[in-house]
Amino acid sequence: MKWMISSLAAMALAGTALAHSGATGVVKDRMAAMKAMADALEVIVPMTRGERAYDPGAYAAAARRIAAEAGRPLVDKFPEGSTQAPTEAAPAIWTDFARFSDLSMTLERRAAALAQAADNAAEVPRGAFRDMARTCSACHEDYRIETD
Ligand code: HEC
Repeated sequence: MKWMISSLAAMALAGTALAHSGATGVVKDRMAAMKAMADALEVIVPMTRGERAYDPGAYAAAARRIAAEAGRPLVDKFPEGSTQAPTEAAPAIWTDFARFSDLSMTLERRAAALAQAADNAAEVPRGAFRDMARTCSACHEDYRIETD
């Protein structure tokens, strides 16, 4: 649990550095969507780690921003053949598109569940956070080739 929160925090904080210069079109759009989700994690992760006071409203709003970027809109940013540099998208996305799409739909569902849990909880909804965060990692593990 702890390692995962740390690695997600690192990922969120590295968001700015990761925004690749030179990306255009749909590659640029999906990098911006990923960056928006990483920015939302910069609100969520410090509260989850107890480094910042838990604010259920802000936490839920950040989770909803992730839900809004995920799902179908994210899948649509990965049309076949969109492998232009400097993309980090793995070719496996397009040989495994059903599973890739599923992960995006799962992220939407779990981010929405996290928002709802935060709306109704006096404490950080850790279980729902873990479920959502795992979805980011699972997809990156199989479908993102980190070049940084
Ligand atoms: C359905 C699969 C999938 C899910 C779910 C997913 N990602 Fe990604 N992510 C990718 C892929 C593929 C790339 C590489 C995109 C590219 O370079 O074209 C990427 C790239 C990124 C990048 C780098 C963007 C850049 O400018 O290069 C960040 C940051 C990121 N993701 C954050 C997240 C966060 C945070 C979550 C969860 C809230 C998440 N991602 C969920 C597939 C996913």
